[in-house]
This record gives sequence, structure tokens and C-alpha cells, in this order.
Amino acid sequence: MGTLQNHDATRHWFDLLAPGYDAVVPSLFWPESLQQAALDRIDLESVDRVLDVGCGTGETIDQLRSDVSATHGLDLSQPQLETAADKSELEDVRFIRGDARTLPYADETFDCVVSVGSILYWSAPVEALREAHRVTKQGGEILVLGFNRRSLSWWNPVQNVQDGVAETLFFRYNREEGTELFLEAGWTDPTHEVTGPIWGPELVIATTARKVES
Ligand SMILES: C[S@@+](CC[C@H](N)C(=O)[O-])C[C@H]1O[C@@H](n2cnc3c(N)ncnc32)[C@H](O)[C@@H]1O
Repeated sequence: MGTLQNHDATRHWFDLLAPGYDAVVPSLFWPESLQQAALDRIDLESVDRVLDVGCGTGETIDQLRSDVSATHGLDLSQPQLETAADKSELEDVRFIRGDARTLPYADETFDCVVSVGSILYWSAPVEALREAHRVTKQGGEILVLGFNRRSLSWWNPVQNVQDGVAETLFFRYNREEGTELFLEAGWTDPTHEVTGPIWGPELVIATTARKVES
């Protein structure tokens, strides 16, 4: 398990990072164009209520809000949420402090759950994805962006060193592991796309899956 797959360590890390977060992290790891391409894989036209798990400073919600009438954001870190809540363009969003493992919402509340760059910190990813499944309406969708567990590169030793460090810090998954993970959590038809920022085109894995109608 990665060192940052720890609830208290992650909260502390993001509490410290919050003041400079927007200036550095999204553009480096989760650029707007990458997020938009992933969001385009969801049928947002049929979505009224969306939950962003690990919403941080609200960057993803900002990209969604023109398409969706009710947006909710949940995050572990109070300072991250305060930065989000201070953004005037996000004044209609309902932010709440909480943990992905125990979502404070009734069953089948949302048409869609999104989560960008948060699963890598989750100590119990299956448990959290099961919670996301519980709060999603039948026929609803999930979109998760995490770190891809890339194969060893024969020509790029720098990438291998980066991946070695990432392995000690974060939860990562490849396509096969992702399929197993999402199916175990109750989701159907997980599909993955490997993507990434310009300096790491295979760094990120974007997964969508659906909750079946019974
Ligand atoms: C890299 S940031 C991504 C924020 C945002 N989604 C974005 O795209 O800018 C990861 C966020 O996940 C939150 N987080 C990590 N573990 C969490 C958990 N178990 N429950 C809720 N939020 C969590 C962190 O506090 C942090 O704000």
C-alpha cells in the first residue's frame, strides 16, 4: 500500500498544499483539456445531479457545472473545500467535508459520480467505489481518473524511476486491475482510456462504468 494511501496523511498533505494547489497541481497532473476529454465520455445531457468525490478546490466541478443543475463536492480536506467555496462561480455548489469510504448521502441520490485524481489516495478503493455505486441511481455512471500502473519501459529509465517512486506513494491500477476493481465494487462494463499530461502521456487512466437497472 502506498504511503499516501492513508486517511490522516492525505488530509494533512492537502491541508498544507491547499493555498498553492490551484497554481501547480491541476495544470501539471490533471490539465483542463485532459479532464474535458474524460468528461466528454459521460452523457452529461441526461445528468441532473452529480457528485464529485475528492473535489479538492472545485476544478472539475467548474468544468461540469454549465451542463448539470445540481452539483455536490465532497473532500477530506477543509482548506481545499474552503478554496472551492470561495470561488464566486461555484456559489451554487454544495460542498461537504467527508470521506469517500462513507458518503453522507442516501442510496441512489446522484445520476453520476465523478472523481479526478483522488482514488490514488484512497486506503480502501473497492469500499469507496462501492459507496459511489450505492449513491448512484440505477442506469447512472461513474467517471474516475487515477494513476495508470504503466509497464516497465525499455527505453525510458527516468519513467521507471518515476513509477518506482509513485508505487511507494500511491494506489495505481492498469486496465486489467481496473476492470477487476470496478466489477468487484458492483459496477458494470468498466472501460478504460490511458491518457496523461503532455510530459507523461500514459500517466493517467480514465475509467467509466455504469450501474445496471434492475
Ligand atoms: C489531486 S486532488 C484532486 C482534486 C480535484 N478533483 C481536481 O481535479 O483538482 C485529490 C483530492 O482528493 C481528496 N481526497 C483524498 N482522499 C480522499 C478521501 N478518502 N475522501 C475524500 N477526499 C479525498 C484530497 O483531499 C484532495 O483534495
